[in-house]
Amino acid sequence: MNEQDAKIRVERLRELINDYRYHYHVLNESIMSEAAADSLKHELTQLETDYPELITADSPSQRVAGEPLPGFKQVVHSSRMLSLNDVFDETEIAAWRERIGKLLPKDAAIEYFTDIKMDGLACALIYQDGALVSGITRGDGYVGEDVTANIRTIESLPLRLRDVKNYDTFLHGRTEVRGEILMYKADFNKLNAQKALMGKPLFANPRNTAAGTIRQLDPKLVASRPLHFRAYDLIRDDSREVSTYDFAYQAMHALGFLTNREAKVLKDVKSVMQYANSWEKKRLKLPFNTDGLVIKVNDRELYSRLGVAGKAPRGAVALKYQAEQATTKVKNIFVSIGRTGAATPVAMLEPVVIAGSTVQMATLHNESEVARKDIRVGDTVIVHKAGDIIPEVVEPLTKLRDGHEKVFVMPTHCPECNTKLVKYKTEDVIWRCPNNACPSRAWKRIEHFASKAALDIEGLGEKNVIALINAGLVKDIADIFMLKANDLLKLERFADVSANKLVKSIQNKKNPQLNRFIYGLGIRHIGIQTATDIANSFRSLETASAATIDSLEAIEGVGGIVAESIVEWFNEPRNQKLLAKFKQLGVWPEAVKTVGGPLSGQRFAITGSLENMSREQGAERIRALGGTFQSAVGKDTDYLVVGANVGASKLTKATKFGTKQITETELLKLLKS
Ligand code: IVH
Repeated sequence: MNEQDAKIRVERLRELINDYRYHYHVLNESIMSEAAADSLKHELTQLETDYPELITADSPSQRVAGEPLPGFKQVVHSSRMLSLNDVFDETEIAAWRERIGKLLPKDAAIEYFTDIKMDGLACALIYQDGALVSGITRGDGYVGEDVTANIRTIESLPLRLRDVKNYDTFLHGRTEVRGEILMYKADFNKLNAQKALMGKPLFANPRNTAAGTIRQLDPKLVASRPLHFRAYDLIRDDSREVSTYDFAYQAMHALGFLTNREAKVLKDVKSVMQYANSWEKKRLKLPFNTDGLVIKVNDRELYSRLGVAGKAPRGAVALKYQAEQATTKVKNIFVSIGRTGAATPVAMLEPVVIAGSTVQMATLHNESEVARKDIRVGDTVIVHKAGDIIPEVVEPLTKLRDGHEKVFVMPTHCPECNTKLVKYKTEDVIWRCPNNACPSRAWKRIEHFASKAALDIEGLGEKNVIALINAGLVKDIADIFMLKANDLLKLERFADVSANKLVKSIQNKKNPQLNRFIYGLGIRHIGIQTATDIANSFRSLETASAATIDSLEAIEGVGGIVAESIVEWFNEPRNQKLLAKFKQLGVWPEAVKTVGGPLSGQRFAITGSLENMSREQGAERIRALGGTFQSAVGKDTDYLVVGANVGASKLTKATKFGTKQITETELLKLLKS
């Protein structure tokens, strides 16, 4: 990018960030997520670092937070309502620990009070002699808005402090309780569902809805919307009355407030980190949104001694979970064919790190969705990623367009097999590739390859396969052998133990039995028995892959359709590449042994059901001793094992060919010999 391009980009970014700020802080609306806006700010700061001459005093990068709203009485806070500095990992927590350690006496024992960081709006409640007298929003930290009438409608906060033993001091004089006003996710969803029914525009997220609600001038409307208050701070004129945060929480709980029971006193940075990790996934199940943890020095005397730097106390930090949204550019849009043949437009993105992993692709769902969102090649877009869910393009930032963007046109034919796509759904237009053999249907293939009768890879069931495909970690059946535990750990489904276990169970199957491997390839019309017959007949993958239709048809039980399907599969260049890939990865089926074993050179078929084992178990045991198991009786069959409830066809053939007929007991004897 040259300076001229940078200048244009910087101006567009500023305009959009300013728009976002105005909507967010003044109008209480959100035109994009905070994470997406942060991502834009990051790009702006980056450009300003590269081209310092472009920095202006009014650039959003040079400004610090928010204008108060008119309409409510302004109230000065008893003490400033501060923000928190963010940290993102253990190293940053340790650095914070070291900084504060230097400011405190050497022998000061520091304990950490850790709580979930709730994503709502901060509010201060003032109680005079036990009665609620006012509720004030955070505002700019110094001055907030008096929203007492609205606050009073929130049932989860006491209008009068409970009179309980040991805490009666708080019923005398002034007690201030600070906390977070929240709308729960479930209530938010209900509210939006109602809005959708009425055809009204939807709310952006629970926090904005809560903030918008609490600033309504009509308390009746506030009362109709379910809000909650969760307390996190207790302030008295004489600070010695509240010695630790731990005590503050106990007291607030006793006085009638909702506090997070999850909050904990922890002894060291390591335990804080463990606690943080333990919440990373669980937090999604909380009734409200959270974006991290709050870590405070538990001892309030030490805490206040540490003082304030800028807008934040030195004695606390917010440990933030990684943002789930970012902005990036759409390089191209292509169509991917899913397991059911659905043709899904996918955006190829300039790589961007979201929540700790690099995202290069995002789903655009279907043709209608692309049109509705008006996503074009070349657009800067907001990308969202949550857990293992496929990243998705939320929306394009149309104000950043420069005229070079290209509108996406849905192809008429399958990009993989060139079959004409058919319309599958018309409401949200979904196209489908009707070709069942379309090579794109990787998902099913991998699941089949790992299934019990094929390679029998424990832990590689449907859900894990989908997660791996979605994460872009595997595309074909050979890719699974390249998986590393570290790749898996990036997915929400895996922890240390499960990741290592899966990698191990895959690596254990690098030299599978030939019949299982052939079956696992997913060749049309080839069930496990046919695969076994082929394996027994050709004995190595090299020979089987060079088989001709004639040589295949010579095998009992293999007809014309099956033979053709096999030859076709091995002749397909894509499949030849796949086999080469296996070979390169050191994955190759064991050749069926020709010599050795007491039953070597003898061919068995079974008819009817056996008493002591299943037919497949019988087959395995025959093979284990060097014998060959055949699914049908042929001229070369040496023994037909006759079980119970036999059908006529094998017996007739055996009689015709003069095959020796034996009982299950006789077979057992042979197996023991
Ligand atoms: S303790 C200096 N505990 O996060 C303020 N705050 O970024 C420390 N918040 O303004 C407050 N959950 O609105 C604390 N468990 C929690 C919190 C929490 C959410 C908010 C609070 C504060 C902001 C700081």
